[in-house]
Amino acid sequence: MARRIVVAASAVFLAACAAQPPPQEVPQMTHRADGTELVGTAFGAPLPGLGAGDLALFEQGRTAFMAVDDVADGLGPVFNEASCVACHSSPGGAVGGSTGRLETRFGAVNADGSFNPMAAQGGSLLQDHGIGLAPSGAYTYLAETVPAYATVVAKRRTTPLFGLGLVDAVPDAEIRAIAALQRIFAPAIAGRVAVVKDLATGKLVVGKFGWKNGNPTLFQFSGDAYLNEMGITSPFFPDENCPQGDCGSLQYNPRPDLNDPSGADVQAFADFMTFLGPPPRGTATLTTLRGELIFAALGCGQCHVPTLVTGRNPVPALDEKVFHPYSDFLLHDMGALGDGIAQGAAGPREMRTAPLWGLRANTAFLHDGRALTPEGAILAHDGQGADARHRFSGLDARQKAALLAFLDTL
Ligand code: HEC
Ligand code: HEC
Repeated sequence: MARRIVVAASAVFLAACAAQPPPQEVPQMTHRADGTELVGTAFGAPLPGLGAGDLALFEQGRTAFMAVDDVADGLGPVFNEASCVACHSSPGGAVGGSTGRLETRFGAVNADGSFNPMAAQGGSLLQDHGIGLAPSGAYTYLAETVPAYATVVAKRRTTPLFGLGLVDAVPDAEIRAIAALQRIFAPAIAGRVAVVKDLATGKLVVGKFGWKNGNPTLFQFSGDAYLNEMGITSPFFPDENCPQGDCGSLQYNPRPDLNDPSGADVQAFADFMTFLGPPPRGTATLTTLRGELIFAALGCGQCHVPTLVTGRNPVPALDEKVFHPYSDFLLHDMGALGDGIAQGAAGPREMRTAPLWGLRANTAFLHDGRALTPEGAILAHDGQGADARHRFSGLDARQKAALLAFLDTL
């Protein structure tokens, strides 16, 4: 009963809004949920209830995700790490988590104020490794550096991947419905749907993955990451990154052919993430329950929407499941907290609402890891998040402690 979720969500919006505008048309979701809650068992464990076939795909995908590639496999010529797991593996070595590894994006602001990703200089994503001397001995590929005249430099923290198969399985209509509800009931914080292209279908769909909602599916993110993190080309991402923007240097590329020609590796990564379970929840106490009420009362849940529902899905473990990511997967104007980088549908100040599930496993917070505690992250909210930050600052010490204790159970 997805409708019930919408009503529950709108009750949260109403709680934080003084004036109630007249009801308007809200897109109706086309699916129902049987109300089955999906709860994680352990960091890095597969979704509970997977059949044997899907469990085998999870294991194969996990192996591919951990595989270390070399130059003969197509690694580089410039890249960030040689395996997915190099960045995605914690807490406790949980495959698919986050090491907290930071990457660098750069660019400049054009005279008309628009963002220049400096593609001709290797931007906006920097690859901080090169393969060195090519096997032919003809050319040395170096790590990229930030050009001196870049005026925007932003770090990006590796996000954990737990439970993202559930997010992938949320119908676009549900994300659009949340955006519509926000426009009606909480216009000051209303998020924007990131409309991006699904490369597999050519259709314009809802972007849900990455700090800027740049990709619509785990499959697409897999191909994107294989190319941009590891330098491995595949059917939907066939063009090698030009090292520091110098496409001429690719004439010495030791593997100029399509590196993952059938896209089998890309599919394996996507399978692993599709079947990777959500983070386990911590224990609720009277204090954390009080903190949960405060979370709602401050309007945190307007953006960090507690509950979403997957649509119909051929995989029973993903079929109409109720789960708790604490995000609306929309873009919000975060004012000074934005990273200054325009990417896909997202403007320089816009960021995806960070999902708060699994928060207690993080070692640093926000897109660039600038906050070392959840409290520090809240105090950095700006733009559409400024009002919630002010309300948080107005709490007394016991209320703050309860809210933070609640966050620590996610
Ligand atoms: C060098 C470190 C690094 C490597 C290697 C890496 N990632 Fe990531 N990953 C990141 C960072 C940083 C982000 C956040 C990127 C952003 O949005 O700017 C991310 C985000 C993601 C996301 C989006 C998660 C979300 O919250 O929406 C997916 C999916 C993902 N990575 C999959 C992969 C796969 C698959 C591989 C291997 C092909 C891989 N990554 C390799 C650092 C890495
Ligand atoms: C207007 C929407 C909005 C509201 C309201 C909001 N947040 Fe956020 N929150 C975001 C966005 C967007 C980010 C990611 C920002 C970034 O990293 O640049 C974020 C990040 C966070 C993070 C860091 C998560 C991580 O993994 O790094 C925490 C913790 C957090 N919010 C808690 C809260 C709490 C508690 C409240 C209520 C007091 C709140 N937020 C209100 C949008 C919002």
